[in-house]
Amino acid sequence: MSCDLSVEIAGLRFKNPVLTASGTFGYGIEFAQWFDLGRLGGICTKGLSLEPLEGNPPPRIVETHGGMLNSIGLQNIGVRAFVAEKLPLLRQFQTHIIANVFGSCFEEYLEVIRILDDAEGIAAYELNISCPNVKAGGMEFGNDPDEAARLTEACKRIARRPIIVKLSPNAGDIVRVACAVESAGADAISAINTILGLSVDIYTRRPRLAMGMGGLSGPAIKPIAVRMVYQIVRAVRIPVIGIGGIATPEDALEFLIAGATAVQIGTANYYDPLVSIKVIEGLQQFCQQQRITAIRSLIGSLRMDERLA
Ligand SMILES: Cc1cc2nc3c(=O)[nH]c(=O)nc-3n(C[C@H](O)[C@H](O)[C@H](O)COP(=O)(O)O)c2cc1C
Repeated sequence: MSCDLSVEIAGLRFKNPVLTASGTFGYGIEFAQWFDLGRLGGICTKGLSLEPLEGNPPPRIVETHGGMLNSIGLQNIGVRAFVAEKLPLLRQFQTHIIANVFGSCFEEYLEVIRILDDAEGIAAYELNISCPNVKAGGMEFGNDPDEAARLTEACKRIARRPIIVKLSPNAGDIVRVACAVESAGADAISAINTILGLSVDIYTRRPRLAMGMGGLSGPAIKPIAVRMVYQIVRAVRIPVIGIGGIATPEDALEFLIAGATAVQIGTANYYDPLVSIKVIEGLQQFCQQQRITAIRSLIGSLRMDERLA
């Protein structure tokens, strides 16, 4: 008997809990040569800003132990080109398209959402709040619970679609930010984004990335991400989407058992374009072997000694 893999987030039904993570899956369409995108639970688009961005100078990706460090600098074609050129192709697939949105100030987030709101075929917005708020002196929105809440509230007020807020692990206290955005009306949370890191070339004694520091992703960050998701899930009532180092069905199961309602797969797409499909098939197989009829029953089933929780 097959297992029901469907989950629900912000009133949306996902056919399975496996989504692809922003910035690691191109604009989605590139992967249609490998498999039917309609098999995915959902696709989070590359981060979209109001105007096109070239991103940072190379080298902007380096391999590290168990992961990768990047400073792409949010390169993208801009929201209008996305709506005109990419979305019409993407929305033909039977999956949820989640538009990942960012800006360097409040107004930019709102303007990007206004443009997307007029387009058909988008299920929800994912706010990337790990961007420097230029007006607040370059600090990340996501590091300050009050700023994160103000931004969430402003976006909620105008958006026609659900808002998922994507949290940064670089915040001093990610749980406080999670609670703040929940109070501000966020429909769901995704966690985590990359962790700030530095890799050094010992011969030149210079950073290996042109921009110096960058964001660490991949298997190296998984235990940190699972821990953060677990802590957030205990503090909020809205659903949490787990992200960080997922490359196998077992990785995804860890997040679900820790309390995530769904997961996103990022860096693993770079070395295996079929990884998401393998994870979906692996989840189905695991559930059948374990005689689990609905994957929902696994969510938050972690057996943690109360004294340790
Ligand atoms: C090259 C690259 C580009 C990324 N671009 C974005 C982005 O535009 N917006 C965003 O919210 N997250 C972005 N991320 C973060 C990922 O979506 C994800 O949160 C992170 O990589 C952790 O997951 P992973 O370990 O499975 O890669 C990017 C990550 C990488 C590696």
